[in-house]
Amino acid sequence: MVNAENTADGAGLTPRLADRLLAAGADVLTLGNHVWRRREIGPYLETSDRVVRPANLATSSPGRGLTVAQAEDGTDVAVLNLQGLLFMSTPISPFEVVDELVEEARAAAKVVLVDFHAEATSEKVALATWLDGRVTAVIGTHTHIQTNDARILPGGTAAVSDAGMTGPHDSVIGVRSELAIARMRTRLPVRFEPAEGDVRLEGVLVRCSDAGQADAIELVRIAA
Ligand SMILES: [Fe+2]
Repeated sequence: MVNAENTADGAGLTPRLADRLLAAGADVLTLGNHVWRRREIGPYLETSDRVVRPANLATSSPGRGLTVAQAEDGTDVAVLNLQGLLFMSTPISPFEVVDELVEEARAAAKVVLVDFHAEATSEKVALATWLDGRVTAVIGTHTHIQTNDARILPGGTAAVSDAGMTGPHDSVIGVRSELAIARMRTRLPVRFEPAEGDVRLEGVLVRCSDAGQADAIELVRIAA
């Protein structure tokens, strides 16, 4: 499962890049608050069963937030994408919709993965705790900074506040540092460009039982 919301030059995802990530071995792609940065992704999401966007966007949005894919060994894996409410422009609270979606996911698969695309660690910890024992893993994305709190919760749900960023780490969360700093210092509009240096792959590896209960979560960090 790959969060792909900023694959297209640092903003959004195009159908061509989605196809490339899937061809490279990703089983499901998730998205986030930058989902609509590339208009052409809308029609693609209407027909794709491998690319999901946050489930709690405007109800008229194209695409969906839950899908079921098969792992390499044939195991059904449900993937649910949600977006946080705190410090983000999100039309529907994730807590308003999560229970029903988790029920739907569990009816379809024993292994359920949640990508919670959110800004605040408090909200991520709260959602993971609320879902403990009902899903296999709650993996945070969006902040681009890998957090040091990967853990198995008492009910058997793996959780981490943020899986980190695959991209240039010699940057301000992927943006050329001087541009990000200039915008913050001057408050003037500055066009962001992706940085290039110190590319790393970051993520998490979760191990679970056939019943979908997690027993290990490991932070992954690989320098190019
Ligand atoms: Fe994001």
